[in-house]
Amino acid sequence: MQTRINRVAAINWAQRNAVAALLCALTIAGCEQPTQTPVMPVTLDPERPTVLITGSSRGIGLEITRQYAMKGWNVIATCRTPSNAADLQAIADEFPNVTIERLDVTDFDRIDALAEKYRNQPIDVLLNNAGISGGRESQQFGNLQYEVYNQVMAVNVLGPLKMVEAFMPNVEASDQKKIINISSGQGSISSTFGGQYFYRASKAALNMVMRSLAVENKKAGITIGLVSPGFVRTDFTKGLDFPMMITPQESGAAVVAVIDNYGIEQTGTHVRHTGEPQKW
Ligand SMILES: NC(=O)c1ccc[n+]([C@@H]2O[C@H](COP(=O)([O-])OP(=O)(O)OC[C@H]3O[C@@H](n4cnc5c(N)ncnc54)[C@H](OP(=O)(O)O)[C@@H]3O)[C@@H](O)[C@H]2O)c1
Repeated sequence: MQTRINRVAAINWAQRNAVAALLCALTIAGCEQPTQTPVMPVTLDPERPTVLITGSSRGIGLEITRQYAMKGWNVIATCRTPSNAADLQAIADEFPNVTIERLDVTDFDRIDALAEKYRNQPIDVLLNNAGISGGRESQQFGNLQYEVYNQVMAVNVLGPLKMVEAFMPNVEASDQKKIINISSGQGSISSTFGGQYFYRASKAALNMVMRSLAVENKKAGITIGLVSPGFVRTDFTKGLDFPMMITPQESGAAVVAVIDNYGIEQTGTHVRHTGEPQKW
């Protein structure tokens, strides 16, 4: 931890000095200062671990955000439209350790810009939570809306993969070095009962992508996991009512507990919110 703090502090100090020296030199030389202020990378409280979460505006992502806020972590809570995310804003108002950032995971330029903004910030847990189902009607056999498949894959598979690519240096620089992906039992090939082809395919693909990355990065000490959050009452499951369904609060707390216990020896496995293994 101490090494990390020192490293971050040293990088910041050097960068700030370099920018200050440049501005000073331009002023002395009588040049106009650049109209665009250079973007200074942001660093958060180095005494706290840091989590970055996608899809923090509502549902499970909102509750996971609240859990990490209460634990005292630095939380980079990302969502597509912060101005519409009143519940998330209320958490940020209560917890100064929460920073809201705009991020659509299909916007790769924005992902790169955010990674640049947090260039020197270690991220202990990168949490790919944002996801869409694609809706039920678009996935009715005989009336399949094929263009929806591309949207579902873009959000549920390519977005998380790009996030890992962009933020890997931040995870590598952290103490806990975890990348966790919210998957689903619906991505299980052995236990499918049919339907939801696009969504199921996307979660099965996410599982393969992340398991492959886990194998590649195990030696570097980076843990990459898949967690199923349970059958949760959110907008995602609107209209469904089954006794085994749990609240977003229950799911969020359980997922965070699973992440706390998820270590390098488990990397590349898929775990349920109960901590039990999820069948592939
Ligand atoms: N609910 C369940 O029973 C269940 C079960 C298994 C797995 N899951 C998984 O759990 C995760 C969260 O689901 P949920 O139930 O909380 O769903 P939800 O209530 O519908 O919330 C989905 C979240 O994803 C965000 N999102 C959608 N598209 C995005 C994009 N392109 N870029 C960034 N964020 C985007 C939404 O943001 P906006 O507010 O901007 O739309 C919202 O914050 C998903 O990965 C889902 O597949 C859910």
